[in-house]
Amino acid sequence: MLKERQAKLYINGKWQEGSDYYELKSPYNGDFITEVSLTTPQEVEEALVSAERGKEKIKNLTSLERSKILEKASAIFEERLEECAQILTLENAKPIKSARGEIRRTIETYKFAAEEAKRVHGETIPMDAAASGAGRLAYTRKEPLGIIAAITPFNFPFNLVAHKLGPAIASGNSVVLKPAYQTPLSALLTAEIFEEAGLPPGVLNVVTGRGSMIGDILVQDPRVNMVTFTGSLEVGLGIKAKAGLKKVTLELGSNSGLIVDSTDDLDEVVAKSVVGSFAFAGQVCISIQRIYVQQRLYDEFVSKFVEQTKKLVTGDPRDENTDISAMIHFNEAERIEQWIEEAKTSNAKILCGGTREGSLFEPTIITEASSNLSINSDEAFAPIVTIQPYQEWEEAVTMINDSSYGLHAGVFTTSMEKAFDAAERMEVGGVLINDIPSFRVDHMPYGGVKNSGIGKEGIKYSVEEMLNLKMVGFNFG
Ligand code: SIN
Repeated sequence: MLKERQAKLYINGKWQEGSDYYELKSPYNGDFITEVSLTTPQEVEEALVSAERGKEKIKNLTSLERSKILEKASAIFEERLEECAQILTLENAKPIKSARGEIRRTIETYKFAAEEAKRVHGETIPMDAAASGAGRLAYTRKEPLGIIAAITPFNFPFNLVAHKLGPAIASGNSVVLKPAYQTPLSALLTAEIFEEAGLPPGVLNVVTGRGSMIGDILVQDPRVNMVTFTGSLEVGLGIKAKAGLKKVTLELGSNSGLIVDSTDDLDEVVAKSVVGSFAFAGQVCISIQRIYVQQRLYDEFVSKFVEQTKKLVTGDPRDENTDISAMIHFNEAERIEQWIEEAKTSNAKILCGGTREGSLFEPTIITEASSNLSINSDEAFAPIVTIQPYQEWEEAVTMINDSSYGLHAGVFTTSMEKAFDAAERMEVGGVLINDIPSFRVDHMPYGGVKNSGIGKEGIKYSVEEMLNLKMVGFNFG
């Protein structure tokens, strides 16, 4: 795939030579990977013209036809799982065993989309429930919006593309996809797979390169009906400000918290929490960043957590044994280094990690960190976690909610009362009881409150976001 598709754009079902290029390099060792198209404004315009044609084609496919394309794509992903995983590892340094896990999820995400394509329908309205409604019939139609601009992040470059492309196809929309600067190859491979699956030309268009220029055009162009974005708060706010009356869904970040209140199996809680804190070097929107542990469990939890973290294997993402590899960019590792310095200055304790080699940051555990430090209050998106004891349940709930973000929270407790209390009072999009906040399957509703965004993903929910509800009324009087 690399050789054939490198430095090409996918527009109107054609692999088009780009007019400008950038060098894609490995986040792990800086090695040159390939040249990629740096899309120009003129090429974005071509993608939009193509998407205009594409929206007519996809709108006119039957639900079954759309479903079959998604099913076929899912099957091709299954056949090409290893190739996809290798590309992913190459471009974003996700350890190969986790990369395979992401492709397995992608296969499932497109299967869910294939199922949802058959469930797009309206309802009848009992018009005669209103005094003036007798003798009338009304029903709703759910219609595609038209063109969706999908702007996707580097951290799950196959599966988070699937979360936008799958529902867009299921609901009959065309797409202009702008993948992250560092992860264009997965998006191009996705286009290749959909081409093979029979998606009509123009329904999917992939433009690679600099997000700011391409994003600005897409977000402000009147032909685009919806922008769906996953990424940082800063960029999300910019999109919202520029999008006018377009529909916008924003899946932004978080600094997710976990409460360890009581458990019959502390070892299992520790094992899950280590994975939830450090998987893909913490570059996951629902990575655990803050852990609050009931005082009586605190010492044992911390000692086991440190012991398990020290066993994580760091290194080359292509190595089958690697658990944690490089962050996406050297600058990101440097930013975290500064946050750790800030924490040290205010007497926080670093129990392990805290150092970096190039862009590879060691998994880091911090205690005695006050809540106003960046490591607690901002989104780290890095392999760091803070642990803090609490005495009273009330204190723990308050600390979870003491955040400008609100995506997921997790609670380990043997108390049903506390579980329901957490479900009711936590200011987040999802509460995970007896689980880590990082748990996700791809059909569950996913999306935050506060600075974590607006709108929901999880195939059925994003399909709804991508449809327009039209009312049709008949007067038989
Ligand atoms: C995200 O980082 O927003 C996605 C996390 C996931 O799908 O597991």
